[in-house]
Amino acid sequence: MKEFQKIILQGIPTKLPAPKVLDSNINHAPKRKDILSSEEKKLALRNALRYFDPKHHTILAKEFSEELKNYGRIYMYRFRPDYKIYARPINEYPHKSKQAAAIMHMLSNNLDHTVAQHPDELITYGGNGAVFQNWAQYLLTMKYLAQMTNEQTLVMYSGHPLGLFPSHKEAPRVVVTNGMMIPNYSKQDDWEKFNALGVTQYGQMTAGSFMYIGPQGIVHGTTITLLNAGRITGAKSLAGKLFVSSGLGGMSGAQPKAAVIAGALAVIAEINSKATQTRHSQGWVDEVYNDLNELINRIAIAKEKKEAVSLAYHGNIVDLWEKLADEKIKVDLGSDQTSLHNPWAGGYYPVGISFEDAKKMMTENPEQFKKEVKQTLIRHVAAINKLAANGMYFFDYGNAFLLEAGRAGADVFLPSPSGEGSGLKHKYPSYVQDIMGPMCFDYGFGPFRWVCTSANPKDLETTDKIATQVLEKLYKKAPKEIKQQLSDNIRWIKEAQKNKLVVGSQARILYADAEGRIKIAEAFNKAVKTKKISAPVVLGRDHHDVSGTDSPYRETSNIYDGSQFTADMAVQNFVGDAFRGATWVSLHNGGGVGWGEVINGGFGMVLDGTKECDNRLKQMLFWDVNNGIARRSWARNKEAIFAIKRAMKAEKKLNVTLPNLVNDEIIGNIF
Ligand SMILES: NC(=O)c1ccc[n+]([C@@H]2O[C@H](COP(=O)([O-])OP(=O)(O)OC[C@H]3O[C@@H](n4cnc5c(N)ncnc54)[C@H](O)[C@@H]3O)[C@@H](O)[C@H]2O)c1
Repeated sequence: MKEFQKIILQGIPTKLPAPKVLDSNINHAPKRKDILSSEEKKLALRNALRYFDPKHHTILAKEFSEELKNYGRIYMYRFRPDYKIYARPINEYPHKSKQAAAIMHMLSNNLDHTVAQHPDELITYGGNGAVFQNWAQYLLTMKYLAQMTNEQTLVMYSGHPLGLFPSHKEAPRVVVTNGMMIPNYSKQDDWEKFNALGVTQYGQMTAGSFMYIGPQGIVHGTTITLLNAGRITGAKSLAGKLFVSSGLGGMSGAQPKAAVIAGALAVIAEINSKATQTRHSQGWVDEVYNDLNELINRIAIAKEKKEAVSLAYHGNIVDLWEKLADEKIKVDLGSDQTSLHNPWAGGYYPVGISFEDAKKMMTENPEQFKKEVKQTLIRHVAAINKLAANGMYFFDYGNAFLLEAGRAGADVFLPSPSGEGSGLKHKYPSYVQDIMGPMCFDYGFGPFRWVCTSANPKDLETTDKIATQVLEKLYKKAPKEIKQQLSDNIRWIKEAQKNKLVVGSQARILYADAEGRIKIAEAFNKAVKTKKISAPVVLGRDHHDVSGTDSPYRETSNIYDGSQFTADMAVQNFVGDAFRGATWVSLHNGGGVGWGEVINGGFGMVLDGTKECDNRLKQMLFWDVNNGIARRSWARNKEAIFAIKRAMKAEKKLNVTLPNLVNDEIIGNIF
């Protein structure tokens, strides 16, 4: 432990470490686009070398130019530390501030080899969700966190630690911004260019904000989504129902496990054999098939026996959909979770081309690759349309599937109201429009999470029990509108230990509204104070929440007053959380649906058992949820109007502007 602490405090080593050989057993990021001109490449090198003593520049300049040539980015592999990166017990991190040590715990989890998608390239999930752009940034950040006191704030610009600035005890210890661009420079290729220059990064959601807790978060969200999707189709249970989707990656890999927890039969296609093997070896997917005929036979048996089982198809999702359509198999629920937020750089693989050849084409012939992706999307949608005509409920799962399919010219639009040509409305809902929005977010229910920084599973068990007690108590007095949400989450938390959901840090997720989040947090803070829990607990949430994200095709897709294209809510949330007591806050461009398509933010809050913390958590969590409910209510969402009126009754200092609803006939008579 002493040696580890010494290395952290040293930051960027003065003596050059030996060059690293890349381990081929690790999943590496695809080669990024060669987008810089030679002048820009010089600038990228100059930028990278800023981190190092000039005496090393000759060696490093050559090495970094090779990295840029071979990988499209400068990761500074040589500086990846040799110690194992994982969420260590909080006291193992050298620190002067407990809050900063808790942040090191969280940050390390995002780079853990068992957690991160491309750990050597500092990518946590989503193909491009970066914690840092390079290893120098990691080393410097850890050093700053180890040195800082509670009277300083670390400022982070897209992975780059700008430095420690004087602040005060109640201020956030870290303020993170990722990918904040001047709006006109926020296209996909702008990310490629400015990321290659080393001046910005794609933080996804919880990657760049140190809040990723492995696939558990998405298992929970997907379980809730599938249960509610089943309810929409009128099914009483998902037994014997077939759910088809794609992706066994960072987030998408949760689909098979969630479907089994929800009681369904799941078939998930994945083109990358490494991703399939990982999920299979972790027990997240039960069986793997390479042959479509064998798979079809297995589906028939599982349907017949109403088995809750997950089957992976190792191949292209389009081949699977076309086979299901040709065989006229009844699919009940359908979706997609390829990384279409990143369609031209490895997020979506074209059909009819091997995985390896596609990767080559992506860098050697990007224009052809683009064409193949577009043609594949057209076929993808054609097969889905056939199955939907046969009763399948298909929903967009927040990966920009409908957006990119529409852009590619696929048949995803409803006819225009005038009857001429296609309109602007998609044929299929996003999961937020039908499910998450009206059933969860508008009532304030969202993915609340916590992490036990002791790294001790016993503490997690204690927190599970506390949370169950709190929710059961709330259920008794809850209005009928939110009883279903509460009971789904009580069931979830009771089964959480059995379902062995922890990968990486000792973390738990559940959906709760403002009242539930505050009550649970208060109970945890008390338990830390009384030592029932042995070390501070970190609270946080996914950015994908009630108030954290403005994203017109996902989180705010059930906002219909035109304001879904604004980002005031997410920006206000970030600022409001910061001055109400968050330990760290983050604001991101990109995440989920793509660079330039979404603004989102999150927070982390360390519960250290103090009275000050009790005040902070009440103030901050109340705002963090009710900001979004107030906005959703102003957008005339009836569930949110109900929820904000209830919140105003409970908190007299809350006074929100409510909308007046106009009779449609008055407007109809004018136009
Ligand atoms: N709905 C949500 O709550 C939610 C949450 C997180 C992520 N997402 C979105 O879902 C997408 C997936 O996220 P992820 O973290 O799993 O990304 P990922 O890149 O780790 O996984 C996507 C997987 O899809 C596979 N794939 C790509 N094209 C394919 C094809 N044609 N056929 C079969 N497999 C193919 C890839 O090999 C990869 O393993 C992202 O766009 C992400 O933003 C949605």
